[in-house]
Amino acid sequence: MANDDKFKKVISHAKEYGYVFQSSEIYDGLSAVYDYAQNGAELKKNIRDYWWKAMVQMHDNIVGIDAAIFMHPTTWKASGHVDAFNDPLIDNKDSKKRYRADVLVEDFREKILQKINKDVAKAKKRFGDAFNESEFRSTNGNVLRRQKQMDEITVELTRVQEESDLEGFKQLILDLGIVCPVSGSKNWTDVKQFNLMFGTKLGASAESAMDLYLRPETAQGIFVNFLNVQKTGRMKIPFGIAQTGKAFRNEIVARQFIFRMREFEQMEMQFFIKPGTQKEWFDYWKETRLKWHKSLGLGEENYRFHDHEKLAHYADAATDIEFNFPFGFKELEGIHSRTDFDLKQHEEFSGKKLQYFDHEEKANYTPYVLETSIGLDRMFLAVFSNSLVEEELENNTTRTVLKLPAVLAPTKAAVFPLVKKDGLPDVAKQIVEDLKWDFNVFYDEKDAVGKRYRRQDANGTPFCITVDHDTLEDNTVTIRHRDTMEQKRVKIEDLKDIIKAEVDVKHWLMRMK
Ligand code: GAP
Repeated sequence: MANDDKFKKVISHAKEYGYVFQSSEIYDGLSAVYDYAQNGAELKKNIRDYWWKAMVQMHDNIVGIDAAIFMHPTTWKASGHVDAFNDPLIDNKDSKKRYRADVLVEDFREKILQKINKDVAKAKKRFGDAFNESEFRSTNGNVLRRQKQMDEITVELTRVQEESDLEGFKQLILDLGIVCPVSGSKNWTDVKQFNLMFGTKLGASAESAMDLYLRPETAQGIFVNFLNVQKTGRMKIPFGIAQTGKAFRNEIVARQFIFRMREFEQMEMQFFIKPGTQKEWFDYWKETRLKWHKSLGLGEENYRFHDHEKLAHYADAATDIEFNFPFGFKELEGIHSRTDFDLKQHEEFSGKKLQYFDHEEKANYTPYVLETSIGLDRMFLAVFSNSLVEEELENNTTRTVLKLPAVLAPTKAAVFPLVKKDGLPDVAKQIVEDLKWDFNVFYDEKDAVGKRYRRQDANGTPFCITVDHDTLEDNTVTIRHRDTMEQKRVKIEDLKDIIKAEVDVKHWLMRMK
């Protein structure tokens, strides 16, 4: 399936099976705002729990908090967001469409990379086993020319961003001959800076109201609580504070479904460390976070690191874990070495000391911070899109299966009576009653069993359990596995252990070891 088609299928499947709906759909929706439906809310919760278990509960030195979305407005002055949380935007005068100038250039560069990869793939096919990829890349004229162009674009893009050279930005777009994907024209406006924070007001009357922002990241709720948590939790460096919660950004280009939203959820952890040790912790968290992703079995080839050329105002090193979404490799998680920027800024703006007394060193210092920050919605999209497959079956039919990692699946098992009579529904309902203490389970008696299996395959349910007439004789049922479609006869009393063995968080997180 072509990538575009695959992505359309992902979006329509998410709606059809009760995972994601457009927000306020009956009023024609709200751009880049989505609601999680009955299955989506469960999947999202399971991803959040999987992260929380790995990051908070499995680490003796990491604790979790839940800070408010509203924060004192000075927070955002101190953090740099009021002055520097901007995106460069550009409009096409013919289509009236608005774009992020940096994204236009990055997409152009990505297309060149795709051409290089195509050349390499073609040569590989032609030369077979004799093909030496690194030699080809370093000698082939086309590849070298394209690589040179990519490098030049990177250098100029970094320069215009670092120097906030908006004229230079426009010139780069013109020089590269980038056209509007909608109108096909090069009729561009100047590039302008646009602050992404949403403003709101706190207070009962217009005169006394205070201007606030909806938080654009959860991280600042952690920084302002650093000392409270350190003291009340008697935390010793190195230690981490984690939280999950909503963040809001007035994104200029909000496309690609739940990939880039205006209201989204982050799962962030700030790890407070001794200054000078940031390099070693940066490497540690890069490796640890990648292991967490890989533990879910979405395919090792679907991840890559992208080290930042342009660093955010607070960072001395940064990398993205990129995932192979249906529209290509894009950022899924950021790992940032944030130095002591945030704590120092909050010290300055609040006038309160935010330091740590190191008993071993017998000295006070402002800790450095290593941050891991992942978008929950993006993780949802990574898991969901990767899991959706169309399978050719032996009898020349196809089935749609949502091969969600069992630990994340919204419903762990569906229980069916083979027919709606002879007492089979009562036995099936009793199984549901017993299993629901441990798992989210679902009862279904409508349609033929084959159809019910297909519905649960498309819904991502790892197990289907069927009660038939033999069950009344010997207390056994058929358990069917979603991915292999293998069916086994098992005792009702063993169901809990069989399901647990495959859906248990421990079973999955142990893969990180
Ligand atoms: N505290 C650091 C921070 O917020 P970021 O790279 O701007 O860093 C971190 O965001 C993660 O949040 C991203 O890797 C992405 O997964 C997610 N994210 C950012 N903007 C988003 C948006 N508009 N919609 C969905 N997820 C978003």
